[in-house]
Amino acid sequence: MWRMLGLARPLAGWMVIAVACGVMGFCCATGIPVLAAEAALCIFESGALACTLSATVAILTIMAVARGILHFIEQRCNHYIAFRLLAHVRDLVFSSLRRLTPAKLAGADRGDLISTVTADVELLEVFYAHTISPICIATLMACVMASFLGTVAGLLPAVFALASYALVGAAVPMLISRASGTGGQRSRNLAGALSSFVLDSLRGLNEVLQFDAGTQRLDELGERSAQLVKTQRKLRGHAGRGQAATTGLIMVLSCLQVLLCLHLVQTGSINPEGAVLASVATFSSFGPFVALANLGSTLQGTLAAGRRVIAVLDEEPQVVDVSNKDGAHPAFSGIAAEHVDFSYDDEQILDNASIAVEPGQIVGIQGRSGSGKSTLCRLFMRFWDVNKGRVALSGHDVRGVATSALRDAEAFVEQDTYLFHDSIRDNLLIAKPDASDKELETACRAASVHDFIMSLPAGYDTMIGELGDTLSGGERQRLGLARAFLHDAPLLLLDEPTSNLDSLNEGQILRTLTEQCGKRAVVLISHRPSTMSIADKTYSMDSGRVS
Ligand SMILES: Nc1ncnc2c1ncn2[C@@H]1O[C@H](COP(=O)(O)OP(=O)(O)OP(=O)(O)O)[C@@H](O)[C@H]1O
Ligand SMILES: [Mg+2]
Repeated sequence: MWRMLGLARPLAGWMVIAVACGVMGFCCATGIPVLAAEAALCIFESGALACTLSATVAILTIMAVARGILHFIEQRCNHYIAFRLLAHVRDLVFSSLRRLTPAKLAGADRGDLISTVTADVELLEVFYAHTISPICIATLMACVMASFLGTVAGLLPAVFALASYALVGAAVPMLISRASGTGGQRSRNLAGALSSFVLDSLRGLNEVLQFDAGTQRLDELGERSAQLVKTQRKLRGHAGRGQAATTGLIMVLSCLQVLLCLHLVQTGSINPEGAVLASVATFSSFGPFVALANLGSTLQGTLAAGRRVIAVLDEEPQVVDVSNKDGAHPAFSGIAAEHVDFSYDDEQILDNASIAVEPGQIVGIQGRSGSGKSTLCRLFMRFWDVNKGRVALSGHDVRGVATSALRDAEAFVEQDTYLFHDSIRDNLLIAKPDASDKELETACRAASVHDFIMSLPAGYDTMIGELGDTLSGGERQRLGLARAFLHDAPLLLLDEPTSNLDSLNEGQILRTLTEQCGKRAVVLISHRPSTMSIADKTYSMDSGRVS
């Protein structure tokens, strides 16, 4: 919680304004009935108001309007703080994920991380907009009210009011929070899982229809919805009971204050006017503490979300980037895996694997599915670090090469090409943001995809999203290759680049690779003998061993 508060430090000025407006607003809210009671007492005692009727009405009106304006400013400040902080926290989480990618994001915790980025960060709005300043406002209001009651009715009503505030503003939210338990968290988890299930079902609609699994999917959907409704109903029940208990408690405590004041009048400790003002003030002063009591049902969830966000920020990456200052920037003269052992978790994937690739060479890697071919490329990219041995770029261990230099030296086309919901042009420019149209076209011709792009309605400006799944596997693959050609790195790592292509397109791409081979080295992974035929040398992988 302190770490989360620490993030708000740069916006402390706004928070002070929010708290000040909140306190003044509640002072107005409590002041209106107190002033009205004071006016009534004046008329009752002396038959006339202390000031004229119009002045009294004017003061009451000003206080009522001020109450509204101050509340508005308080809420504006709180939400300004909250959304500025959410943007900042999202930025921090995203930078953190950037550090952790891809090693941590590829693991089993991926779902948790994604839920942290989306739902948990969103939930912090409650903490920053509806928790911090209400606590400060309630604390200050307790002091203001205690001193007011102390002045008009003496020590005892002031102490009783403080105890009542503590009960409503601290004990009740804690009790509600305890009664709700992990219900809030559970409800959010269930809601998250339900939306993933719906999304998954929509994505796999073709498979669902093909295997006639609609009823089964619908049943599961119904079951999950029912579970969510049950948890939410329970949660709302707790919140409703909490609110009813709070209102009841306030009534009881206010009546007790009236009885206490009456008793003090009887014993002559205070005058009747003080008793009336103290009673009225107590009745109308619980607003800030009710706001705290209502936090009870969300408190645990908010704090848990905060803990998860902080945990992501603190997570140690498996591979630490090397800065430009600290790392080497070697000119490319080949890449090699030297006696490399590697395992993702416990299962060993590579066992004493050695491969050398020199400039101008096309090196083929083949082997059965799961033998570690793609893994080797990921180690060349330093997405993971080796357990034993080393990967050397131009003779330098990649752990000592500046990450930007490593990315400049290598272009990796993975088995699945991810295309962003953006235009084809922007999807390609990610590989070289300042590329000219001519360069784009050359890269696309080399990847045998230029003619296809030109046949689309808006050419290079066609949105990928509009095409959706209608883009074929081969078209996506060729766009991935065009990206790699555009990046123009001296080392090309191609993981099954032709698996989805017809022989015509395959032939074009192989021709490009052979033509360009003079200026760059290529690592080519493929199960197709026709693709492997252009390799200058070929390694075979089997059970993590290379021959
Ligand atoms: N992120 C990961 N975490 C844990 N295990 C992984 C991960 N990625 C791959 N593996 C496992 O490592 C082994 C090697 O995977 P890899 O993708 O390198 O195989 P491959 O030779 O490229 O296979 P294919 O020809 O099917 O593409 C597989 O058993 C796979 O299940
Ligand atoms: Mg693979």
